[in-house]
This record gives sequence, structure tokens and C-alpha cells, in this order.
Amino acid sequence: MKFFIDTANLDQIREASDLGILDGVTTNPSLMAKEGITGTDRVLKHYVDICQLVGEGDVSAEVIATDFEGMVREGEELAALHPNIVVKVPMIREGVKALKYFSDKGIRTNCTLVFSAGQALVAAKAGASYVSPFIGRLDDISTDGVELIAQIRDIYDNYGFETEILAASVRHPMHIIQCAEIGADVMTGPLSAILALLRHPLTDSGLAQFLADHKKARENA
Ligand code: G3P
Repeated sequence: MKFFIDTANLDQIREASDLGILDGVTTNPSLMAKEGITGTDRVLKHYVDICQLVGEGDVSAEVIATDFEGMVREGEELAALHPNIVVKVPMIREGVKALKYFSDKGIRTNCTLVFSAGQALVAAKAGASYVSPFIGRLDDISTDGVELIAQIRDIYDNYGFETEILAASVRHPMHIIQCAEIGADVMTGPLSAILALLRHPLTDSGLAQFLADHKKARENA
């Protein structure tokens, strides 16, 4: 399972990257705004900075336009920034057309704002490289987000679709584990959810005991 971090914060990307297990980054207009990144030039430069931080990993950069021509114009500009840019396109009618256009041109895409199996099926048929079901936002409205990942896994496996399932809107470590059990190709989440996977109280108490025993043995030697 690939691990992406869902942020536009360079410090958090650097911290995740330093762990050595980061495979990519996803951003969205809200995350860019949260970092105060506005204006076309600053936005484009920020994407390049992120690409340079993650090395080989994919970096999703979202179009703002909602019409086909605008999405194509923005997406081509984003894709030209760096070979690792993946153009993020919303699951709307014009977006589906744009996904097909980019797919035909060899530009990689991430179909975002996916909340149903039907939307995921259409995204795959349009040739999306990644599909992003938002599991946390489904949980927020009392709908099982992880169950959607399982449904999409079944559908894609039935037909051999190559679109990678990118579980998005991940909120906590159990989301990651459940998505891994189902076979999601990628998860994107906050640094806190990734770091939470590492922690276990028995690891901490066990290490404390090992170090204490080692110290005692040295003192008695
Ligand atoms: O980047 C898309 C998605 O991961 C958003 O997550 O936490 O805003 O629902 P969230």
C-alpha cells in the first residue's frame, strides 16, 4: 500500500519524507489556502517545491476550473511543471470529459470528490490514474466510507481496471488498516494518522524495560 500525505504544509511533508516511507502527496484548494498559498505564480511554485521535497513520489495538484476547456488548460499547465504532477479533477460531468482527454494524452489524473461506487466506475472508464473516495466525509454523514473502498475494489477487480484506489479523507490509523485489509492501492491522510500507526504502549514499556535492564547489568559488571 502506498502512503501519501494529505497536506500542502512543507514542514509536515518533510517530516513524513524523513521517515522514509512516504510515496507521495495529495493537495486540494482548501489545503493550499490553509497554507496561505494564493495567486497563480505562488501556487505553481509551491507545487514544484512539494515535488522537489518528495523526490520520486506523485504529487496531486487540483484544477480550479469547472468547465472542460478550463480544466484542460489548467491541467496541462500543472502537468508541465514536473513529471511527478498528477492532475486532480473533480467528479463532475465536465471532469469526466477532462479525465478522458488527459488519459488519451498520457497525462496522469486523480479523480477527486468521489462518494459512490458508480462515480468510481465512471472514473475508471474515463481512464483516471487514481480515484479518490473520501471515506472520512462519508463517515461524517453516517455512511460507511470503508465499505465503499471494498465495493470499488470488487468492481475494479471484476474488470481489471488499472485505476488505483486512493483512499482519501483518512482521519485515523484504523481507516488505514481497514483500507489495507481491503486492498486499497494508496491511502492519503494527515501526518498524525501515519505517526499513530507506529505507537503501541507495549512497545514503549518494553523498550523502557530493555534499557533499564541493560543499565543495571552495566552497573553491576
Ligand atoms: O484531499 C482530499 C481529502 O483527503 C480531504 O480530506 O479531511 O478534508 O475530508 P478531508
